[in-house]
Amino acid sequence: MIDTQLSPLPRRIRVAVIGGGQNSEHEVSLASAASVRAALDPAVFEVQSLTVDRDGYWLRADGQPLAATRARSFAAAVGLIADCDVAFPAVHGPRGEDGSLAALFELAGVPYVGAGVRGGALAMDKWATKLVAAELGIRTAAGRLVDAGTAAGLRPDRFPVVVKPVAAGSSHGVGLVHRIEELDGALADALAHDHRVLVEEFVTGREVDLAVLERADGSLLVGPALEIVVAGAAERTALFDTAQKYDGSAVFRIPAPLADAEEKALREAALALFTALGCRSVARFDFFLTPEGPVLNEVNTMPGMTAQSQVPKMFEQAGLPYPALLDQLLRSALSDRTQDHR
Ligand SMILES: Nc1ncnc2c1ncn2[C@@H]1O[C@H](COP(=O)(O)OP(=O)(O)O)[C@@H](O)[C@H]1O
Ligand SMILES: [Mg+2]
Repeated sequence: MIDTQLSPLPRRIRVAVIGGGQNSEHEVSLASAASVRAALDPAVFEVQSLTVDRDGYWLRADGQPLAATRARSFAAAVGLIADCDVAFPAVHGPRGEDGSLAALFELAGVPYVGAGVRGGALAMDKWATKLVAAELGIRTAAGRLVDAGTAAGLRPDRFPVVVKPVAAGSSHGVGLVHRIEELDGALADALAHDHRVLVEEFVTGREVDLAVLERADGSLLVGPALEIVVAGAAERTALFDTAQKYDGSAVFRIPAPLADAEEKALREAALALFTALGCRSVARFDFFLTPEGPVLNEVNTMPGMTAQSQVPKMFEQAGLPYPALLDQLLRSALSDRTQDHR
Protein backbone atom coordinates (compact mmCIF):
# COMPACT_ATOMS: atom_id res chain seq x y z
CA MET A 1 0.00 0.00 0.00
CA ILE A 2 1.27 3.44 -0.85
CA ASP A 3 1.29 6.13 1.82
CA THR A 4 -0.24 9.22 0.21
CA GLN A 5 -0.79 10.98 3.55
CA LEU A 6 2.63 12.51 4.03
CA SER A 7 3.41 14.68 7.02
CA PRO A 8 3.51 18.42 6.28
CA LEU A 9 6.83 19.94 5.34
CA PRO A 10 8.13 22.41 7.95
CA ARG A 11 7.78 25.44 5.66
CA ARG A 12 7.15 26.39 2.04
CA ILE A 13 9.80 24.77 -0.12
CA ARG A 14 11.43 26.63 -3.02
CA VAL A 15 11.70 24.36 -6.05
CA ALA A 16 13.59 25.17 -9.24
CA VAL A 17 11.61 23.45 -12.01
CA ILE A 18 13.71 23.31 -15.16
CA GLY A 19 12.35 22.48 -18.61
CA GLY A 20 13.37 22.60 -22.25
CA GLY A 21 16.95 21.63 -22.94
CA GLN A 22 19.44 21.70 -25.76
CA ASN A 23 18.48 18.53 -27.60
CA SER A 24 15.82 16.99 -29.83
CA GLU A 25 13.55 16.30 -26.84
CA HIS A 26 13.21 20.02 -26.09
CA GLU A 27 9.44 20.15 -26.64
CA VAL A 28 8.80 17.02 -24.59
CA SER A 29 10.81 18.49 -21.73
CA LEU A 30 8.83 21.74 -21.94
CA ALA A 31 5.65 19.70 -21.57
CA SER A 32 7.03 17.71 -18.62
CA ALA A 33 8.14 20.86 -16.78
CA ALA A 34 4.87 22.70 -17.43
CA SER A 35 2.91 19.76 -16.10
CA VAL A 36 5.11 19.50 -12.98
CA ARG A 37 4.76 23.22 -12.26
CA ALA A 38 0.99 23.10 -12.65
CA ALA A 39 0.62 20.13 -10.31
CA LEU A 40 2.78 21.32 -7.40
CA ASP A 41 0.65 22.50 -4.49
CA PRO A 42 1.36 26.26 -4.12
CA ALA A 43 0.66 26.03 -0.39
CA VAL A 44 3.67 23.72 -0.05
CA PHE A 45 5.95 24.60 -2.96
CA GLU A 46 7.10 27.92 -4.36
CA VAL A 47 8.22 27.38 -7.95
CA GLN A 48 11.19 29.06 -9.60
CA SER A 49 10.66 28.44 -13.33
CA LEU A 50 13.68 28.08 -15.57
CA THR A 51 13.88 26.98 -19.20
CA VAL A 52 16.88 26.05 -21.30
CA ASP A 53 16.28 27.03 -24.92
CA ARG A 54 17.47 25.06 -27.95
CA ASP A 55 20.69 27.08 -28.08
CA GLY A 56 21.52 26.54 -24.41
CA TYR A 57 20.41 29.95 -23.15
CA TRP A 58 18.69 29.91 -19.76
CA LEU A 59 15.35 31.74 -19.75
CA ARG A 60 13.15 33.18 -17.01
CA ALA A 61 9.48 32.28 -16.60
CA ASP A 62 8.53 35.10 -19.02
CA GLY A 63 10.70 33.56 -21.77
CA GLN A 64 13.42 36.21 -21.64
CA PRO A 65 17.08 35.14 -21.40
CA LEU A 66 18.61 35.66 -17.94
CA ALA A 67 21.60 37.41 -19.56
CA ALA A 68 22.87 38.45 -22.98
CA THR A 69 25.30 35.57 -23.53
CA ARG A 70 24.75 31.88 -23.07
CA ALA A 71 27.47 31.54 -20.44
CA ARG A 72 26.19 34.49 -18.43
CA SER A 73 22.60 33.24 -18.63
CA PHE A 74 23.84 29.93 -17.22
CA ALA A 75 25.73 31.69 -14.43
CA ALA A 76 22.61 33.68 -13.54
CA ALA A 77 20.56 30.47 -13.49
CA VAL A 78 23.04 28.87 -11.08
CA GLY A 79 22.53 31.87 -8.78
CA LEU A 80 18.76 31.36 -8.83
CA ILE A 81 19.07 27.59 -8.32
CA ALA A 82 21.42 28.18 -5.38
CA ASP A 83 18.61 30.08 -3.65
CA CYS A 84 16.24 27.12 -3.99
CA ASP A 85 15.81 24.24 -1.55
CA VAL A 86 15.61 21.60 -4.24
CA ALA A 87 15.71 21.28 -8.04
CA PHE A 88 13.38 19.36 -10.34
CA PRO A 89 15.13 19.07 -13.72
CA ALA A 90 12.36 17.86 -16.04
CA VAL A 91 14.82 17.76 -18.90
CA HIS A 92 15.07 14.62 -21.00
CA GLY A 93 17.98 13.55 -23.18
CA PRO A 94 21.56 14.75 -23.61
CA ARG A 95 22.68 17.77 -21.54
CA GLY A 96 19.77 17.04 -19.22
CA GLU A 97 19.17 13.47 -18.21
CA ASP A 98 22.76 12.39 -18.95
CA GLY A 99 24.28 13.68 -15.71
CA SER A 100 24.99 17.21 -16.93
CA LEU A 101 22.33 18.87 -14.81
CA ALA A 102 23.00 16.51 -11.91
CA ALA A 103 26.62 17.70 -11.96
CA LEU A 104 25.49 21.30 -11.65
CA PHE A 105 23.35 20.53 -8.58
CA GLU A 106 26.07 18.38 -7.04
CA LEU A 107 28.62 21.16 -7.34
CA ALA A 108 26.15 23.74 -6.04
CA GLY A 109 25.12 21.44 -3.18
CA VAL A 110 21.42 21.71 -4.07
CA PRO A 111 19.33 18.53 -3.62
CA TYR A 112 17.61 17.40 -6.81
CA VAL A 113 15.14 14.95 -8.30
CA GLY A 114 16.54 12.32 -10.66
CA ALA A 115 19.65 10.21 -10.99
CA GLY A 116 23.09 11.38 -9.98
CA VAL A 117 25.88 12.04 -12.44
CA ARG A 118 26.96 8.42 -12.84
CA GLY A 119 23.50 6.88 -13.08
CA GLY A 120 22.35 9.47 -15.58
CA ALA A 121 25.44 9.16 -17.75
CA LEU A 122 25.44 5.35 -17.74
CA ALA A 123 21.74 5.00 -18.52
CA MET A 124 21.86 7.63 -21.27
CA ASP A 125 24.43 5.46 -23.03
CA LYS A 126 22.54 2.54 -24.56
CA TRP A 127 25.78 0.64 -25.20
CA ALA A 128 27.03 0.99 -21.61
CA THR A 129 23.57 -0.03 -20.39
CA LYS A 130 23.84 -3.24 -22.46
CA LEU A 131 27.20 -4.06 -20.87
CA VAL A 132 25.85 -3.58 -17.35
CA ALA A 133 22.71 -5.61 -18.17
CA ALA A 134 24.84 -8.43 -19.60
CA GLU A 135 26.83 -8.60 -16.35
CA LEU A 136 23.55 -8.96 -14.46
CA GLY A 137 22.39 -11.76 -16.78
CA ILE A 138 19.67 -9.56 -18.31
CA ARG A 139 19.31 -9.99 -22.06
CA THR A 140 19.45 -7.11 -24.53
CA ALA A 141 19.20 -7.12 -28.34
CA ALA A 142 22.35 -8.37 -30.03
CA GLY A 143 23.93 -5.29 -31.50
CA ARG A 144 27.01 -3.70 -33.02
CA LEU A 145 28.39 -0.33 -32.02
CA VAL A 146 29.55 1.73 -35.01
CA ASP A 147 30.65 5.26 -35.82
CA ALA A 148 30.83 7.11 -39.13
CA GLY A 149 34.05 5.26 -40.03
CA THR A 150 33.06 1.71 -39.08
CA ALA A 151 29.45 2.12 -40.33
CA ALA A 152 30.62 2.26 -43.93
CA GLY A 153 30.53 -1.19 -45.45
CA LEU A 154 28.49 -2.69 -42.61
CA ARG A 155 26.55 -5.75 -43.84
CA PRO A 156 24.12 -7.16 -41.25
CA ASP A 157 23.66 -10.96 -41.49
CA ARG A 158 19.93 -10.68 -41.06
CA PHE A 159 17.14 -8.14 -41.48
CA PRO A 160 15.23 -6.30 -40.13
CA VAL A 161 17.65 -4.37 -37.97
CA VAL A 162 17.07 -1.31 -35.80
CA VAL A 163 19.54 1.54 -36.22
CA LYS A 164 19.64 4.06 -33.39
CA PRO A 165 21.83 6.69 -31.75
CA VAL A 166 23.55 5.52 -28.54
CA ALA A 167 22.31 8.61 -26.69
CA ALA A 168 19.07 10.26 -27.79
CA GLY A 169 15.38 9.92 -27.01
CA SER A 170 11.76 10.17 -28.16
CA SER A 171 12.71 7.78 -30.99
CA HIS A 172 14.61 10.56 -32.79
CA GLY A 173 17.07 9.02 -35.23
CA VAL A 174 15.71 5.49 -34.62
CA GLY A 175 15.11 3.57 -37.86
CA LEU A 176 13.74 0.17 -38.83
CA VAL A 177 15.68 -1.25 -41.76
CA HIS A 178 14.34 -4.13 -43.85
CA ARG A 179 16.75 -4.07 -46.79
CA ILE A 180 20.41 -3.28 -47.29
CA GLU A 181 19.49 -0.37 -49.59
CA GLU A 182 17.84 1.39 -46.62
CA LEU A 183 20.81 1.02 -44.31
CA ASP A 184 22.91 4.04 -45.29
CA GLY A 185 19.98 6.43 -44.91
CA ALA A 186 19.15 5.05 -41.47
CA LEU A 187 22.79 5.27 -40.38
CA ALA A 188 22.97 8.89 -41.53
CA ASP A 189 19.79 9.71 -39.57
CA ALA A 190 21.16 8.09 -36.41
CA LEU A 191 24.60 9.68 -36.83
CA ALA A 192 22.93 13.09 -36.99
CA HIS A 193 21.99 12.58 -33.32
CA ASP A 194 25.12 10.94 -31.93
CA HIS A 195 28.55 9.99 -33.28
CA ARG A 196 28.03 6.48 -31.86
CA VAL A 197 25.26 4.33 -33.26
CA LEU A 198 23.81 0.90 -32.48
CA VAL A 199 22.76 -1.55 -35.17
CA GLU A 200 20.58 -4.11 -33.41
CA GLU A 201 18.63 -7.20 -34.25
CA PHE A 202 14.89 -6.49 -34.30
CA VAL A 203 13.36 -7.99 -31.15
CA THR A 204 9.83 -9.30 -31.62
CA GLY A 205 8.00 -9.02 -28.33
CA ARG A 206 5.51 -7.01 -26.34
CA GLU A 207 6.82 -3.63 -25.14
CA VAL A 208 6.46 -3.63 -21.37
CA ASP A 209 7.86 -0.89 -19.13
CA LEU A 210 8.36 -0.79 -15.36
CA ALA A 211 9.18 2.14 -13.11
CA VAL A 212 11.10 2.11 -9.84
CA LEU A 213 10.48 4.89 -7.32
CA GLU A 214 12.84 5.58 -4.44
CA ARG A 215 10.96 6.81 -1.40
CA ALA A 216 12.26 9.27 1.18
CA ASP A 217 13.21 6.40 3.52
CA GLY A 218 15.31 4.85 0.75
CA SER A 219 12.95 1.95 0.06
CA LEU A 220 12.22 1.08 -3.56
CA LEU A 221 8.74 0.75 -4.98
CA VAL A 222 8.12 -0.93 -8.35
CA GLY A 223 4.97 0.35 -10.07
CA PRO A 224 2.59 -1.84 -12.05
CA ALA A 225 3.89 -2.88 -15.47
CA LEU A 226 2.70 -0.84 -18.45
CA GLU A 227 2.33 -2.32 -21.91
CA ILE A 228 2.54 -0.12 -24.97
CA VAL A 229 0.41 -1.51 -27.73
CA VAL A 230 2.34 -0.58 -30.88
CA ALA A 231 0.38 -1.15 -34.08
CA GLY A 232 2.53 -3.13 -36.52
CA ALA A 233 5.24 -4.26 -34.08
CA ALA A 234 4.21 -7.93 -34.13
CA GLU A 235 4.36 -7.89 -37.96
CA ARG A 236 7.81 -6.28 -37.67
CA THR A 237 6.63 -3.34 -39.74
CA ALA A 238 6.68 -0.57 -37.12
CA LEU A 239 8.44 0.85 -34.10
CA PHE A 240 7.12 2.94 -31.22
CA ASP A 241 8.13 6.03 -33.19
CA THR A 242 8.03 9.74 -32.41
CA ALA A 243 4.60 10.18 -34.01
CA GLN A 244 3.01 7.33 -32.06
CA LYS A 245 4.60 8.63 -28.85
CA TYR A 246 3.03 12.05 -29.03
CA ASP A 247 -0.02 11.95 -31.33
CA GLY A 248 -2.10 10.12 -28.76
CA SER A 249 -2.42 6.94 -30.86
CA ALA A 250 -0.34 4.73 -28.56
CA VAL A 251 -2.41 2.66 -26.18
CA PHE A 252 -1.10 1.99 -22.65
CA ARG A 253 -2.36 -1.05 -20.78
CA ILE A 254 -1.88 -0.76 -16.99
CA PRO A 255 -1.35 -3.15 -15.43
CA ALA A 256 -0.02 -5.10 -18.38
CA PRO A 257 -1.55 -8.57 -18.39
CA LEU A 258 1.38 -10.76 -17.33
CA ALA A 259 1.93 -14.27 -16.02
CA ASP A 260 3.32 -14.29 -12.46
CA ALA A 261 6.69 -15.57 -13.66
CA GLU A 262 6.91 -12.85 -16.32
CA GLU A 263 6.09 -10.13 -13.81
CA LYS A 264 8.63 -11.48 -11.34
CA ALA A 265 11.37 -11.59 -13.97
CA LEU A 266 10.63 -8.01 -15.06
CA ARG A 267 10.52 -6.65 -11.51
CA GLU A 268 13.75 -8.37 -10.54
CA ALA A 269 15.48 -7.07 -13.66
CA ALA A 270 14.26 -3.50 -13.06
CA LEU A 271 15.41 -3.51 -9.42
CA ALA A 272 18.79 -5.04 -10.28
CA LEU A 273 19.35 -2.43 -13.00
CA PHE A 274 18.27 0.46 -10.73
CA THR A 275 20.98 -0.49 -8.27
CA ALA A 276 23.69 -1.51 -10.73
CA LEU A 277 23.40 1.65 -12.84
CA GLY A 278 23.32 3.84 -9.73
CA CYS A 279 19.82 5.20 -10.35
CA ARG A 280 18.09 7.38 -7.80
CA SER A 281 14.69 9.01 -7.35
CA VAL A 282 12.81 7.38 -10.21
CA ALA A 283 13.70 5.52 -13.38
CA ARG A 284 11.79 3.71 -16.11
CA PHE A 285 13.00 0.41 -17.51
CA ASP A 286 11.76 -0.47 -20.98
CA PHE A 287 11.65 -4.12 -21.97
CA PHE A 288 10.54 -6.35 -24.78
CA LEU A 289 8.77 -9.37 -23.40
CA THR A 290 9.60 -12.38 -25.56
CA PRO A 291 8.63 -16.05 -25.17
CA GLU A 292 12.18 -16.52 -23.77
CA GLY A 293 11.67 -13.82 -21.13
CA PRO A 294 12.47 -10.10 -20.84
CA VAL A 295 14.92 -8.33 -23.14
CA LEU A 296 15.97 -4.90 -21.87
CA ASN A 297 15.62 -2.13 -24.44
CA GLU A 298 16.64 0.98 -22.53
CA VAL A 299 16.59 2.87 -19.23
CA ASN A 300 15.25 6.42 -18.73
CA THR A 301 16.42 8.27 -15.62
CA MET A 302 14.21 11.31 -16.31
CA PRO A 303 11.23 9.65 -17.95
CA GLY A 304 8.34 11.68 -19.40
CA MET A 305 6.73 13.55 -16.50
CA THR A 306 3.48 15.00 -17.81
CA ALA A 307 0.36 13.84 -16.00
CA GLN A 308 -0.36 11.64 -19.04
CA SER A 309 3.14 10.15 -19.29
CA GLN A 310 3.90 6.52 -18.55
CA VAL A 311 5.45 6.83 -15.07
CA PRO A 312 2.73 9.09 -13.60
CA LYS A 313 0.09 6.78 -15.10
CA MET A 314 1.73 3.70 -13.59
CA PHE A 315 1.88 5.12 -10.07
CA GLU A 316 -1.60 6.60 -10.36
CA GLN A 317 -2.83 3.08 -11.03
CA ALA A 318 -0.97 1.97 -7.90
CA GLY A 319 -2.82 4.55 -5.79
CA LEU A 320 -0.30 7.40 -5.95
CA PRO A 321 -1.86 10.33 -7.85
CA TYR A 322 0.39 12.60 -9.93
CA PRO A 323 0.73 15.46 -7.37
CA ALA A 324 1.55 12.90 -4.66
CA LEU A 325 4.19 11.31 -6.92
CA LEU A 326 5.84 14.71 -7.42
CA ASP A 327 5.65 15.33 -3.68
CA GLN A 328 7.38 11.99 -3.03
CA LEU A 329 10.12 12.77 -5.54
CA LEU A 330 10.82 16.15 -3.94
CA ARG A 331 10.73 14.80 -0.39
CA SER A 332 13.04 12.01 -1.37
CA ALA A 333 15.45 14.53 -2.91
CA LEU A 334 15.31 16.73 0.21
CA SER A 335 15.99 13.81 2.51
CA ASP A 336 19.06 12.92 0.46
CA ARG A 337 20.83 15.85 2.04
CA THR A 338 21.30 13.78 5.16
CA GLN A 339 21.14 10.24 3.79
CA ASP A 340 23.89 10.64 1.21
CA HIS A 341 23.15 7.40 -0.62
CA ARG A 342 24.03 8.65 -4.08
N1 LIG B 1 16.17 -3.82 -31.08
C1 LIG B 1 14.90 -3.42 -31.25
N2 LIG B 1 13.95 -4.29 -31.69
C2 LIG B 1 12.67 -3.89 -31.88
N3 LIG B 1 12.24 -2.63 -31.69
C3 LIG B 1 13.13 -1.73 -31.23
C4 LIG B 1 14.50 -2.07 -30.97
N4 LIG B 1 15.14 -0.95 -30.53
C5 LIG B 1 14.20 0.03 -30.51
N5 LIG B 1 13.00 -0.43 -30.92
C6 LIG B 1 11.74 0.34 -31.07
O1 LIG B 1 12.04 1.71 -31.23
C7 LIG B 1 11.53 2.48 -30.15
C8 LIG B 1 12.51 3.58 -29.79
O2 LIG B 1 13.77 3.00 -29.44
P1 LIG B 1 14.51 3.37 -28.08
O3 LIG B 1 15.78 2.61 -28.04
O4 LIG B 1 13.56 3.16 -26.96
O5 LIG B 1 14.84 4.90 -28.29
P2 LIG B 1 14.40 6.21 -27.48
O6 LIG B 1 15.46 6.40 -26.43
O7 LIG B 1 14.42 7.27 -28.51
O8 LIG B 1 13.06 5.96 -26.87
C9 LIG B 1 11.26 1.45 -29.04
O9 LIG B 1 10.25 1.90 -28.18
C10 LIG B 1 10.84 0.24 -29.86
O10 LIG B 1 9.51 0.36 -30.33
MG1 LIG C 1 12.49 4.42 -25.70
